[in-house]
Amino acid sequence: LENLYFCLSSFFLKHFCMIDRSLLVANAGDCRAVVCCRGKAVEMSRDHKPSCNREKMRIEASGGYVYDGYLNGLLNVARAIGDWHMEGMKACDGLGPLSAEPEVMMRNLTEEDEFLIIGCDGMWDVFRSQNAVDFARRRLQEHNDPVACCKELVDEAIKRKSGDNLSVVVVCFNSIAPPVLTAPRPRVQRSISAEGLKELQGFLDSLAD
Ligand SMILES: *[C@@H]1O[C@H](CO)[C@@H](O)[C@H](O)[C@H]1NC(C)=O
Ligand SMILES: *[C@@H]1O[C@H](CO)[C@@H](O)[C@H](O)[C@H]1NC(C)=O
Repeated sequence: LENLYFCLSSFFLKHFCMIDRSLLVANAGDCRAVVCCRGKAVEMSRDHKPSCNREKMRIEASGGYVYDGYLNGLLNVARAIGDWHMEGMKACDGLGPLSAEPEVMMRNLTEEDEFLIIGCDGMWDVFRSQNAVDFARRRLQEHNDPVACCKELVDEAIKRKSGDNLSVVVVCFNSIAPPVLTAPRPRVQRSISAEGLKELQGFLDSLAD
């Protein structure tokens, strides 16, 4: 709850729910939700930054502008539930430049889906999605404790000098820790084309001359 409160209090709302084995994520703002599918990061939301093209177009169509990455030169986020106090941001019909409409993504979870990370912007300033998944996965393999994993993610973000709010929620889908993966052997292309062989032969011949 504290985490959700922080998400709310820092401009963003992220809701997620699970129906059977479907995961539904609704996001308005620059929180991000990432699923770990057998070690691979799958993004379940898009950061609503004012400078991203789709948001910029929406903002300009609703009478706002983006200056230096900031909505109306003030706000570093393009959608939010709150911020009604800011002049010129919201309209009663919900069509102001600062939209409260969430984008919704759905995923049918499989046995390969291991856990979900929800973090606010301070987290993603210093972690790429895949990097956060790798980091969390290693920690969960050690202790399989999502609460400890959240703390470790936040500590690491502080160590990486994140300057923004840091709230993280980790949800494990299985009771067992993520398994150790045996990496597939990299397949190296060892053959050389007939053309290449001829060229090489020519080069060697020229050295012999
Ligand atoms: C955290 O978020 C609040 C609310 O959005 C904001 O006022 C505050 O400046 C943020 N803190 C940092 C360190 O960015
Ligand atoms: C999830 O599964 C249901 C039922 O099999 C299917 O109708 C739906 O399209 C799937 N959703 C996604 C996002 O793949």
